[in-house]
Amino acid sequence: MAIDIKPGEIAVIPRGLKFRVELISETVRGYICENYGHPYILPERGPVGANGYTNERDFQYPVAAFEDLEGDFELVAKFNGNLFRCDIGHSPLDVVAWTGNSGPYKYELSRFNVMNTVSFDHPDPSIFTVLTSPSGQEGVANVDFVIFPPRWMVAENTFRPPYYHRNIMSEFMGLIEGVYDAKEHGFVPGGMSLHNCMSPHGPEADVFEKASNAELEPQRYENTLAFMFESRYVISPTKYALEGKERQPNYADCWKGIKKYFKGA
Ligand SMILES: [Fe+2]
Repeated sequence: MAIDIKPGEIAVIPRGLKFRVELISETVRGYICENYGHPYILPERGPVGANGYTNERDFQYPVAAFEDLEGDFELVAKFNGNLFRCDIGHSPLDVVAWTGNSGPYKYELSRFNVMNTVSFDHPDPSIFTVLTSPSGQEGVANVDFVIFPPRWMVAENTFRPPYYHRNIMSEFMGLIEGVYDAKEHGFVPGGMSLHNCMSPHGPEADVFEKASNAELEPQRYENTLAFMFESRYVISPTKYALEGKERQPNYADCWKGIKKYFKGA
């Protein structure tokens, strides 16, 4: 089977499946989340009812396909946290018949039916959950996959960007295209940010000023597609991430310019 995915789409590959990734150019970039917990399922819709958020009808499954090739192939497998490899004399993608109930699929993120406030307040971003891998404890998922797609903002008497907070869940964010509303500087497509468990965070100083003084008319958020992997586990950056030249060492400066307005009693 073959799955073509383009920017703005996601693919979910079940555990144990042998697969190959073919890139159409050297500049292709993407994000990967390796899920060790419960397989992804749709989040509960609750009072929203039968439809909304991620709809079942929008998932796409590939048709069966195989390749019958002999030659030099390398097979890599991950087991118990380690990678193993071996040489084989034929393509491992030569399974001609299969039956089962766990297959790969893809989903186009623009199909996500966004729910949001039509009165006031900034809802918890879990309202934008596309897929969730629940844990045994309600409210703190193994991992939630959340997106911030183009949408209308209409909240009244509200600071519309995310509020300042800290929480149990660790938040790994990425930007697929455009600009993210809470961080308009330094967060570019292909970039990522990490706010681990109980790390305080929120909009940068410029966004705070702008949003605090904005006319709260209906506004369309265009040219944006950010996402978040939100997990109950602490995310440990690799040595590469900590020491790489791409790292932004002055990230915390984005909050430096926030002024004190509270004057006390
Ligand atoms: Fe957050």
